[in-house]
Amino acid sequence: MFQIKTITPEETTHLRQLTLRQHQEEKDLIYPGDHDEETMHYGAFEDSELVGIASIYKVKMKDVDEPESWRLRGMATTENVRGKGYGKDLMNKCLGHIKSKNGKLFWCNARITAEGFYEKFGMKRKGEVFHPEDLGPHVVMWMEM
Ligand SMILES: CC(C)(COP(=O)(O)OP(=O)(O)OC[C@H]1O[C@@H](n2cnc3c(N)ncnc32)[C@H](O)[C@@H]1OP(=O)(O)O)[C@@H](O)C(=O)NCCC(=O)NCCS
Repeated sequence: MFQIKTITPEETTHLRQLTLRQHQEEKDLIYPGDHDEETMHYGAFEDSELVGIASIYKVKMKDVDEPESWRLRGMATTENVRGKGYGKDLMNKCLGHIKSKNGKLFWCNARITAEGFYEKFGMKRKGEVFHPEDLGPHVVMWMEM
């Protein structure tokens, strides 16, 4: 059985480490804002196993003064379930929540390798490629809601 549920920041760290930041330790993978009141963390479960994560934060994008802006972070599914639509379901859950809060802008720092995934939701590139330490090339992706 597949299900998406809200989870705690602490429940995200195992998959963050496994799928996004193997060079770091789980204990260091609580991100700033993870415990903020507006922040939401979603987990995709196949039976009782956590196989996907996504977190959204109410935070502005650089150079855009839109208070109703939301950032996506820590979006990932485990390698064995990729291509089954779980990433899409997690994204749609995030977008649904943001819409329910009258969010106006949605953005993320995307790995270049995931750019095509975000494009499927109507997000577009903003600015130049940048290179955060140890994480590979990234680009800002965004869309109006
Ligand atoms: C990117 C990621 C989250 C996608 O998750 P997923 O569970 O495989 O996604 P889905 O199966 O729901 O795919 C949804 C659609 O996006 C497409 N897609 C998935 N990954 C893609 C990628 N990397 N590039 C282009 N398209 C992609 C799928 O083909 C599918 O297309 P369709 O709806 O036309 O069939 C997953 O590959 C992942 O965790 N990658 C490693 C971590 C990562 O890079 N996360 C993003 C950080 S910015």
